[in-house]
Amino acid sequence: NIMVVVITSHNDISTAVECMKEGAFDYLTKPFQLEKIPLLVERARELKELRIRESLLKKELEEKIQIQHRKIRELFLGSLNALVRVLEAKDEYTVGHSRTVASLAYEIAKVLGLGSTLRKKLLIAGHLHDIGKVGIRDDILRKPGPLTREEFEHIRRHPLISEEILSYVIKDKFILSSVRHHHERINGRGYPDGLKGDEIPLGAKILAVADAYEAMTSHRPYRKALPAEIALREIERNKGYHFDPEVVKAFLSIPLTKIYPETEL
Ligand SMILES: [Fe+2]
Repeated sequence: NIMVVVITSHNDISTAVECMKEGAFDYLTKPFQLEKIPLLVERARELKELRIRESLLKKELEEKIQIQHRKIRELFLGSLNALVRVLEAKDEYTVGHSRTVASLAYEIAKVLGLGSTLRKKLLIAGHLHDIGKVGIRDDILRKPGPLTREEFEHIRRHPLISEEILSYVIKDKFILSSVRHHHERINGRGYPDGLKGDEIPLGAKILAVADAYEAMTSHRPYRKALPAEIALREIERNKGYHFDPEVVKAFLSIPLTKIYPETEL
């Protein structure tokens, strides 16, 4: 913030240019007129004030942008939470389900070494992967007995509906593909697209394990919750058929105590 005026006996253009490049306000060569100095000082003072005002304005603007950014993010997360609540209001069995799936998926992603951006995206996908169930008939969603072929075909549409609903508020491909493919199986017998092995996006393979574990260990209209050990064994048994072996390995390495703390959006 100090304004520098170089006064020198060297009358050399290249030195003058060098001084101005280094930030000098002006360059005077001897002999110079003393009466010019007050005017020079006044100009330097004005320029300094202008610079200070500029930097204050810049700082103010940056703070305003940050506040707006925070508000937009809060609104965005609020709208996602509203969607989760819509599904929970429709289907009591999904209360807490998506939160736990999100939390499990996040932990698996950590073990697999995914970066924090991808982990956060997976958290969003985990919370919203089943939102498409709002488009599934209540009598099918709450049916206590086994589903007929037609009913099962209807329920198989939910990942596509989830993807469609989310595509209005989310453009991120990682999130959308994780949601769309969370019921695919490594052996190609899943849905909606029957993808095989590495055709299935990593996010979807992680969600599949988290989703299956959570579903097995919670109560459903047609069966009681399975104990954690049996659910873990079932996941292990299905690796390479239903689940990706690497994802299963990562999941099984997580201590059970770490599995349940719920991670908010
Ligand atoms: Fe699902």
